Amino acid sequence: MSKFVTVIGARPQFIKAAMVSNLLRRENIEIMIHTGQHYDYNMSELFFDEMHIPKPNYNLGISGGTHAQMTGNMMIAIEDILLKEKPDGILVYGDTNSTLAGALSAAKLHIPIYHIEAGTRTHCDTNPEEINRICTDHISKILFACTKENMKELENEGLKKRSILSGDLMYDAFLKYSKYKTYKEIDFFSLTGDQIDISEGYYYLTCHRAENTHNDSNLLEILKAMSELDNITIYPVHPRNKTRALELHRKYKLEKIKLIEPVGYIESLALLKGCKSVVTDSGGLQREAFFAQKKCVTVLDFPVWPETMVDGRNCIVHPYKDDILNCLEKPQTINNMYMPFGKGNAGEIIVQTITQNI
Ligand code: UD1
Ligand code: UDP
Repeated sequence: MSKFVTVIGARPQFIKAAMVSNLLRRENIEIMIHTGQHYDYNMSELFFDEMHIPKPNYNLGISGGTHAQMTGNMMIAIEDILLKEKPDGILVYGDTNSTLAGALSAAKLHIPIYHIEAGTRTHCDTNPEEINRICTDHISKILFACTKENMKELENEGLKKRSILSGDLMYDAFLKYSKYKTYKEIDFFSLTGDQIDISEGYYYLTCHRAENTHNDSNLLEILKAMSELDNITIYPVHPRNKTRALELHRKYKLEKIKLIEPVGYIESLALLKGCKSVVTDSGGLQREAFFAQKKCVTVLDFPVWPETMVDGRNCIVHPYKDDILNCLEKPQTINNMYMPFGKGNAGEIIVQTITQNI
C-alpha cells in the first residue's frame, strides 16, 4: 500500500478532490492537508459534506496576506507534515497558492509530485495562477492534462514525456452531481430573500478574479451590463469582493441583480442548468456552462479554456458593458460530437496511473 499526501485549499480543488480521494483510498493511504486558503463554511466545509470528501487530517488555517506570505507560510507547515508522514507521493490540483506551496515543499524533499489539471496556459505573465501552474508543472513527476490543447502546451515546454491526457475532473463531477438537483427544486426565496419571478428566466453571474476585483471599474461594468438585461441575474458573491459588490449594488441601485451568499456545488449546478446564460470569470464555471450547453461570456483579458470558445458557445470579452451585452446576444450552435474534456473518467485514469507509477 502506498501513501499519498493531497494538498487542497480552494473551492474548485475540493470539487476535483471529491472525484479522486475516495477512489485513491480504495488501495492506498491518503493523508489530506487543507491549507485553509478558503475557510468560510460555504466556501469549504459545505463541499466536504455534500460531496462526501474525506475530512482533512490537517487544516493549516493559512489564508490571506500577500502571495508570498500565504505561499511561504503554507510551505513551512506542509514541509513539517511531509517530514512526519513520509509519503510516497503528493497530489496537487490546479493553480492556486495552495498548489504551488504543496508542490515546492515536496520538490525540495524529493517527493514525487502528481499535478492534476496541468498545462493550462493564459500566456499572461502577470496572472498569479499562470505563475503557480508553470512552476508546478515543471517540478512535477506526472502531469495530468484535461485536454489535447493542454497537452500541446506541455509539449511546447518540453514536458510531453511526463504528461498524460486524463480528461477533466470537472466533467466527471458535473456528470455525477448535476443529477442531484433540478433548478425547479431551487428555493429562490431562501436564496435571495425576495419573492422573485423567474418565470421568464434568469442569468447566472460569478466574478472573483483578482483582475476583475482589484478596483471598482471592472466589476461595475459587469454589473451594469447585467442590470440592462431583460431578466434578473443571480450572483453568488465570492468573499473576495463582497464589500465592493454590496457597495456598488447599493450605490447604483442595481435591483435586477440578486446578490447572494456563495452556494454549494449542487446548488451551483442547479442554478446553471436553469439559467438563460452565464457571465463569469471562473475557469470552472465556464467549463460547466459548456457541459450544460449554456451560452457563456467570460470576462477576462485572456482565454483560459479556448476549447470552449467554439461556435459562439463561450466568448471572451474585456470588462466593458457593451461588449458583454453584444456577446450575450450572439447565438451559439451546439455540436454534440465535440467534447474536448474527456469521457468523464478522469478520476479513474488519474488514480490508476499514479498507483502504477509509484
Ligand atoms: C483563489 C485562487 C484562484 C481560484 C480561486 C477559486 C490563488 C492565487 N487564487 O482566489 O486561482 O480561482 O481561489 O475561488 O490562489 N476569503 C474569505 N473567505 C473564504 C475565502 C477567501 O473571506 O472562505 C477572502 C479572504 O479575505 C482572502 C480573499 O477572500 O484574502 C481572497 O482569497 P484568496 O484565496 O487569496 O483568493 P481567491 O480570489 O479566492
Ligand atoms: N461554485 C459554487 N458556488 C458558488 C459559485 C461557484 O459551488 O457560489 C462552483 C462552480 O459551479 C464551479 C466552481 O465553484 O464548480 C468554480 O470555482 P471558482 O469560480 O471559485 O474557481 P475557478 O474555477 O475560477 O478556479
